[in-house]
Amino acid sequence: MIKIILLIILSLPLTIIILHTIIRLIRFFYKFPMPQFLANIIDNPLRRKIQPPKETGLRHGIKSGMNVLEVGPGNGRYTVEAAKIVGPNGRITTIDIENKMIERVIKRMETENIANINAEVANVYKLPYQDCSFDLIYMIAVFNEIPEQEKALTEFHRVLKPNGLLVFSELFMDPDYPLSKTLIKKVQSFPFKLKEKIGNFFYYTLKFEKI
Ligand SMILES: C[S@@+](CC[C@H](N)C(=O)[O-])C[C@H]1O[C@@H](n2cnc3c(N)ncnc32)[C@H](O)[C@@H]1O
Repeated sequence: MIKIILLIILSLPLTIIILHTIIRLIRFFYKFPMPQFLANIIDNPLRRKIQPPKETGLRHGIKSGMNVLEVGPGNGRYTVEAAKIVGPNGRITTIDIENKMIERVIKRMETENIANINAEVANVYKLPYQDCSFDLIYMIAVFNEIPEQEKALTEFHRVLKPNGLLVFSELFMDPDYPLSKTLIKKVQSFPFKLKEKIGNFFYYTLKFEKI
């Protein structure tokens, strides 16, 4: 009996690694938005230890009074913390391609009594905002879900103010996790310059400046 239990315990990490690899392979060929029912599963205590919501906002360089665009909020955990940092003189606009995700964010805003968030359904390929609108754009575990990333980068560049910041946070646990050097190369093929890299192989934040 002990042998069987030991075998199960020892084979668990291997099973996770195999499953993770299979999902990564599928996601490499077929990119699509994360199903909305997973929003609360990825918002778990381990994840919040690695990417604490408030600290992540500060790590992104969000400051009081900023006008910020978030892409792909999931259940809105990081959105409300960002809204608290920008405060009453700032604003968070958050967009998601999935209506159900936006409904989750609105529900969280109501529960936490947060008023400085605009949550709307939109696609990164055609952002419904004027040129030079935002001080900062951020996304957490989103970019590799977007099939036509060049279109997205063009739009991010358009809606950012001069010298505005484009920020990506990534986590190894995410089956869409990109290597930081791959992401840096892709983003810097557009008029963006790497300003700061925080973290390590397993989780990192990259901050680019619009040039
Ligand atoms: C893996 S989830 C990450 C959620 C949240 N940022 C987090 O870290 O918990 C990716 C999110 O990006 C959204 N998304 C994917 N493609 C998108 C697109 N083209 N435009 C806008 N949102 C998109 C998905 O619907 C989903 O909410």
